[in-house]
Amino acid sequence: MIDEKKRESFGSRIGFVLAAAGSAVGLGNLWKFPYIAGKNGGAAFLFIYIVIIVCIGVTAMMAEVLIGRMGRLNAADTFEKLGGKKWKPVGLAGILCTFIILSYYSVIGGWIVKYFFMSFTDLIEYAGAGKTGEIFGAFVSNPSQVIFYQGVFMLVTALVVLFGIKGGIERSCKIMMPMLFLAMIVLIIRAVTLPGAMSGIEFYLKPDFSKVTSETWLAALGQGFFSLSLGAGAIMIYGSYLPKTENIVSSVKQICFIDTAVAFLAGLMIFPAVFAFGAEPAAGPGLTFITVPTLFAKMSGGVVFAVIFFLLFFVAALTSSISLLECSTGYFVDHGMDRKLATLITAALIFLTGIPSAYSLSGGLKIGSRDFIDAAGYLTDSIMMPLCSMFCCIFVGWVLNRELVKREATSDGKIGFGSFNIWMMMVKFAAPAAILVIFFTGLKW
Ligand code: PHE
Repeated sequence: MIDEKKRESFGSRIGFVLAAAGSAVGLGNLWKFPYIAGKNGGAAFLFIYIVIIVCIGVTAMMAEVLIGRMGRLNAADTFEKLGGKKWKPVGLAGILCTFIILSYYSVIGGWIVKYFFMSFTDLIEYAGAGKTGEIFGAFVSNPSQVIFYQGVFMLVTALVVLFGIKGGIERSCKIMMPMLFLAMIVLIIRAVTLPGAMSGIEFYLKPDFSKVTSETWLAALGQGFFSLSLGAGAIMIYGSYLPKTENIVSSVKQICFIDTAVAFLAGLMIFPAVFAFGAEPAAGPGLTFITVPTLFAKMSGGVVFAVIFFLLFFVAALTSSISLLECSTGYFVDHGMDRKLATLITAALIFLTGIPSAYSLSGGLKIGSRDFIDAAGYLTDSIMMPLCSMFCCIFVGWVLNRELVKREATSDGKIGFGSFNIWMMMVKFAAPAAILVIFFTGLKW
């Protein structure tokens, strides 16, 4: 039997905002956004990305938080409780999605752990000698090392989730998120004052729309949903821990703003440096790892800075990975399993599922023309998340009772939501339609 009464909750609204922003801000912003933007033409991609976040992301996130808070269970049981058995598969697909994401997320999380330790020793020296590309290549093509660090990352994630919502997740987010912001500002100042930085700023901020195709739109949609943690049940499960009296609308706006701001700043940190050092903006998954250490080498006190940066980068990834793990764990906890046991079992399974991703970087496993890790990313970001998120919108717009939705969104009329009708139109028609069109025109396996 599912026990709803014992459910934990966040201690405060700011706790929820920071935890959800912690889930949103992660590798998606600091690692993936710059390289996807780099591959898709820079400024034009940035423009489309922002349009998607404002028009679809905010709407869809509100829908997801609302469902979560109404259901107060894990994604699968929430859908069943509110919409009947036929809706359960949407929630299950979301949980499966977080499972797959975390399997490769932990691989990249492991890279950060490795770089954190390397910054104490020889990272800056190599960077000073212009060898960041070589050490990155040597590391990722050594599967046993990659898997070892992936395991370390997974272990730390599991430890935080073990301590539950208030003790682990909320506390760690409150301290680390603001610190990350500050560290990025310092790095941006260094990056934009490098000689040659201007062409990077131009690449990033001066759009050339002739490079835009339907695939650019799908890439931006997938990246937007991945970055906002949408369609995977992660935001939904955090919503289920949000007290009924808190304001969903302003919380969601803040979360989307913070997430987009961090992605934007990550680009501003990376692209000027990429151009100043003559690197390749379309370099792919290694972009952040190759570029940022070179920045440190150009700073006095670079070693200290590198250590702090990789620590914060690690924390950003961790606040996302705990939300990913919480999705599957929460499912088992809701079904009566002991939290510790549920955490350990799911973490171990996810770790094993990630091993092919870790291997694929050394040129091994491929699915079609894509590396395994790339294929897993495409499946989750560009297919599963947009579709699940579309179903969340349809669910709120067409299945749930409009009056109940209004009451939930306004905490029984206590909180103003002037644009409720517009939002309902967006959830009912505009967001699902836009997702479908972008999905079908851009899909290319
Ligand atoms: N949004 C996270 C990031 O940007 C990844 C994530 C996706 C987390 C889905 C939870 C759910 O890194």
